[in-house]
Amino acid sequence: MTDMNIKQAVDKSGLRHIAFIMDGNGRWAQKRGLPRTHGHKEGVKTFERIAEYCSEIGIEVVTVYAFSTENWKRPKAEVDALMKLVERYLDEFAQTVDKYQVELHIIGDTSVLSPALQQKIDRAEQLSKGKPCKLCVALNYGGRDELVHAYNALLKQGKSQITAQDISAHLYTANIPDPDLIVRTGGEMRLSNFLLWQAAYSEFYSTPTLWPDMKPADVDLAIEAFCKRSRRFGGV
Ligand code: FPP
Repeated sequence: MTDMNIKQAVDKSGLRHIAFIMDGNGRWAQKRGLPRTHGHKEGVKTFERIAEYCSEIGIEVVTVYAFSTENWKRPKAEVDALMKLVERYLDEFAQTVDKYQVELHIIGDTSVLSPALQQKIDRAEQLSKGKPCKLCVALNYGGRDELVHAYNALLKQGKSQITAQDISAHLYTANIPDPDLIVRTGGEMRLSNFLLWQAAYSEFYSTPTLWPDMKPADVDLAIEAFCKRSRRFGGV
């Protein structure tokens, strides 16, 4: 599709929020005889390119799954490398914040991250406040953990009955619309604890393309597939 057509397709379809499960970095590196961390490094470049493209074509919210509550089980060297990449990205984001129209949100339990990383998160979020598009990076994020966190916050308020709205308002994604489309690269067909509550009516798209190989044209294919879906939200 041409840029113009894809913009029109986004506009017409009501596609506001795309969430990406960025899978396949390890395989991408292994295929080239490189360490897995090299795949993550390349994955950050892809993330920057894809996030920018999404904002160019009129997507209001982009969410990416950068580190799950289960990813701590990986070798320490890989975990450390991923955290370093996030730190570096936050520094770069803070330095170039005026160039982009995105408000950054880190979603997940950040309380266990290093104080230096928490500071960088606060700084980047503060600097980008009020920008029209949203970029959400899920970091130490788990859908179950997020729900437990929300229920506990509600219990603390002394609530004896809670509504779906109460829960939505206490998620890490409070005030962020639910994803319309969840794209998973790397060929798997599961959510892996990603946005469990928010995904209730999201369309799911899986591509065998490994995340570092993901190009704007692959995003177009996902959007084209989304445009062909009939979203009934439980109706007829
Ligand atoms: C899954 O691929 C990928 C991850 C667990 C990490 C994704 C993180 C990044 C792309 C960097 C994030 C940084 C920022 C700043 C957003 P995998 O390693 O499980 O791949 P495999 O299935 O091929 O082994």
